[in-house]
Amino acid sequence: MQNDWTPSSWKRFPARQQVHYDDPAELESTLAKLARLPPIVTSWEVEKLKTQLAEAGRGERFLLQGGDCNERFVDCQSNRIDKKLKVLLQMSAVLIYGSGRRVVRVGRIAGQYAKPRSEPTETRDGVTLPAYRGDLVNRTEFTAAARRPDPSNLLEAYGRSAMTINFVRSLLSGGFGDVHHPEVWDLQWVEKASEPDEYRALVESMRASVRFLDAMVGRPVSELANVDFYTSHEGLHLDYEQAATEHPPLREGYYDLSTHLPWIGERTRDIGGAHVEFFRGIRNPIGVKVGPTMEPEELLALLQVLNPDDEPGRITLIARMGAKKVAERLPPLVEAVRRAERVVTWCSDPMHGNTYKTADGTKTRRFDDILAEVDQSFLVHADVGSVLGGVHFELTGENVTEIVGGSCGLTEADLGSAYESDVDPRLNHAQALEMAFLIARRLKDPRFQPRSAAVG
Ligand code: PEP
Ligand code: CO
Repeated sequence: MQNDWTPSSWKRFPARQQVHYDDPAELESTLAKLARLPPIVTSWEVEKLKTQLAEAGRGERFLLQGGDCNERFVDCQSNRIDKKLKVLLQMSAVLIYGSGRRVVRVGRIAGQYAKPRSEPTETRDGVTLPAYRGDLVNRTEFTAAARRPDPSNLLEAYGRSAMTINFVRSLLSGGFGDVHHPEVWDLQWVEKASEPDEYRALVESMRASVRFLDAMVGRPVSELANVDFYTSHEGLHLDYEQAATEHPPLREGYYDLSTHLPWIGERTRDIGGAHVEFFRGIRNPIGVKVGPTMEPEELLALLQVLNPDDEPGRITLIARMGAKKVAERLPPLVEAVRRAERVVTWCSDPMHGNTYKTADGTKTRRFDDILAEVDQSFLVHADVGSVLGGVHFELTGENVTEIVGGSCGLTEADLGSAYESDVDPRLNHAQALEMAFLIARRLKDPRFQPRSAAVG
């Protein structure tokens, strides 16, 4: 398996979660069109992100990764994109000012259009159709036409990803990430929070720091610093990822330029599988979801395949154990990685192991379970002498009602009022900001300071 990698060598390996298209010629001609389009990101940005992720792995930065479970084509609208960016920037401002640590911001955005499914088909009233696999593949409506995997969606997804990132870049270059911008300080939700005084004090000290720095440098601090913002998505649909993979001039090797940080999902991380084969050959930093069935030997073997030279920043391990399992399943993995002196950036996804269904069948998660998994993860890393380098959330800037709990006091009975997600439930704006405050507090906790000896 070792040296004969090409962008298409994954085709020799069993691929889970792939799509069956009924017209292979149509698929091939679409992929050829895709491959000729300009990239969505550049290898320079990708390498810069890798450097920042390496810093997060050592505790010199903190990774904030978040966005929709499933981006939808209909949400490619200015106000929606603007709110997604706003909530991530607000969270990052809270983390920076609350903890003093630098932050690397990565959206699940501009390409998070493919979803793994537990069943390939769905049956309703005796009718069986292909499962919905994200807008990259088909549509949610339960009709044969909507559920047919249609290759034209690949081009549409690529185009919408490009439009999304174009708008994000314009907002950022126009000062949207500026800490003076009123958007950053719109914190009405604080009134409802359980500890409003503490939050208000933090916001006031953020304002004071900005005024102080402005005074020191004699002009707005925002003029000195660009806000970096990166994109990520699950690299699930390998034909699509391959079409966006190229060998940029003046670089060694291949980059998947559909996104900065592609990740391997929990269902496709098997070591002999096509996804691992594809990912091992690209030069991007990559994420790997690590669920409760992962064993230490398997993880070490995977790291050997994906990052044999231990390049810092190359691998972000995104643990998603669930609040009930994390204390048992995470320590052996963190310990094994530390003992083997493998260089990784550890991140906690406290969302995907904490999903449950209410009595009426609505998919939700509890704010308290999410926080409990983050807390346990901090403790595990502190115990082992390792570093929790970041967090991964499903969240939105909208006021949806998909997750119960938090200071906004959502209950299961409220879920129906603004539930939008077709796949997994997300933290709403207030819940996401509250989570950022709670994490900032933990990042300041003396127990969770990176030890200089910790490299894991
Ligand atoms: C996801 O991140 O939306 C997802 C499907 O996660 P996982 O692969 O961890 O289940
Ligand atoms: Co999800």
